[in-house]
Formats: sequence, structure tokens, C-alpha cells
Amino acid sequence: MKKYNIITIKEGISSNEIAHELANYDDTPEFTVVNLLNQTKGKGRGTNKWFSELGKSLTFSIIVYPRFLNSQLSFYISKLTSIAVVEALQNFSHKIKIKWPNDIYFNNKKLGGILIENCFENDKITYSIVGIGINVNQTNFPSELPNPISLLQITGDNSQLINLENTLYKIIRKFVKWYTILKNEDHNGYAIIDKTYFKYLTGRSKTIEYKTNDEKILKGKIISVDEFGFINIKNSAGIVLSYNIDEIKLIKF
Ligand code: BTN
Repeated sequence: MKKYNIITIKEGISSNEIAHELANYDDTPEFTVVNLLNQTKGKGRGTNKWFSELGKSLTFSIIVYPRFLNSQLSFYISKLTSIAVVEALQNFSHKIKIKWPNDIYFNNKKLGGILIENCFENDKITYSIVGIGINVNQTNFPSELPNPISLLQITGDNSQLINLENTLYKIIRKFVKWYTILKNEDHNGYAIIDKTYFKYLTGRSKTIEYKTNDEKILKGKIISVDEFGFINIKNSAGIVLSYNIDEIKLIKF
């Protein structure tokens, strides 16, 4: 049985914004997907914008109600979404990976971004808006983007455009699968998600370089990403340092 329900909208500012409005109605079912064909002012993490191109990219948001999840563990939604996207795109290349915390990368280029916005009540998450943007058939990008890439550029075959709808369905099906693992499998689901996230993480167990907020460039090995989303990096002296997303930027991975 199909568990999700896609609402396709021609044009709007941001699929996340539309999804927030829907989530505030009592009768919006879980796994309602807002598929925005022309997103005019996509939001990225922090103050970033997300660029997309009508007919050539995917910009959509999935509504879920993870009331079973303690608010401190909200990073699991990020983890499972990144896994779902990477798994759905493995047939294009096994080099498609997660870049901590939840970017989708091919080598050192950005293929997709995820913006999760949670609504909390006490220590519970009442709803999450899982916003996903994927570069699919673009061949040109705005010059201000530092390192974009599309699925079409990965396949290297410009004559064979990639079907947007099929790619959307694949990602949603994987999302439903991984969300259900988190929801139904007691604590084992958390362990499976941790393991799979680490398996798909770019730079894992390699020496990487990162920049701290005080502009220091440091090196170390990523040894894990914990349940709160902190990255643990072991330096050459064997000391493990733990950072959250606002504290460092990965530069070579
Ligand atoms: C990032 O890399 O900073 C996150 C980008 C997230 C972009 C997606 S596109 C669909 C959804 N709607 C938005 O406005 N943003 C997210």
C-alpha cells in the first residue's frame, strides 16, 4: 500500500514554508509531500539560500510527526533522511555520500541539501518538515555557488535526461523505509541508523581538514557522529574532540 501522498504545486517561495502551513492543520497525514516545481526563494541552512531550476531539479518537503522521539534526539531525523537520499541515488554512483551533517556530496561537490525544521512541545517533537533539494538535470549553475554538481553531470550523459518524478518517488520510498525503522524497531533502529549513516559518510576514518570558528585549520580522523549530531574527530595526539555544526567547517574530506 502506498504510504505517502504527494501534493504538487507549480510555484511558491519554499516547499518547507508550505509544509509548515499544512502541518498545522489537524488532518494532514504523515508522509504528505509538498513537491514544489518552481521554488522561488528556497531556504538553506542558517542564512543560506537554495538555488533550483524549474524542470531540472527537485525541491520538496515531507511532513512527519515523530512524537515518539525525544527532542534531544532530533538529529536522527537528519541521519535517516541523509541515508534515504544517498541510498535512493546509489544507482547513479556509489560515490554519492553524506557530508556531515546532512549534505549530499559527490567527491567534493554538492549534489543536494537537506533542511529539517522541527516544531517542539515540551520535550517532544510535534512535527518535522524534512526539506530536500537535489540537483538533477542542471548543466549550468549560478556562479556564486562554490561547488555544485547535478546527477546528470555525474552520469556524464547529457543526451539522457533523468526522470524527476521517478527520482522523487525513490527518495520518498527510502525515506518511509528508514523513518519506519526508527519508529518501529525500539533501540535497535537507532543503532542500525548510526551504523548506516557512518557507512555513507564522506571522509570517515580518513585524515580530514577542518576550520574552527577562530580560523584555525586542524586535521584529524572522523571516528563517529553521535546521537546529538556532534562529530567526533581524533587528532594526531590521539585526543578526541567533539564539535557541533556551528563550531567547525570541513574543508578537505
Ligand atoms: C542546505 O544545504 O543548506 C539545505 C538546503 C535545503 C533546500 C531544500 S529545497 C526543498 C526545501 N525547501 C526549502 O526552502 N529548502 C529545502
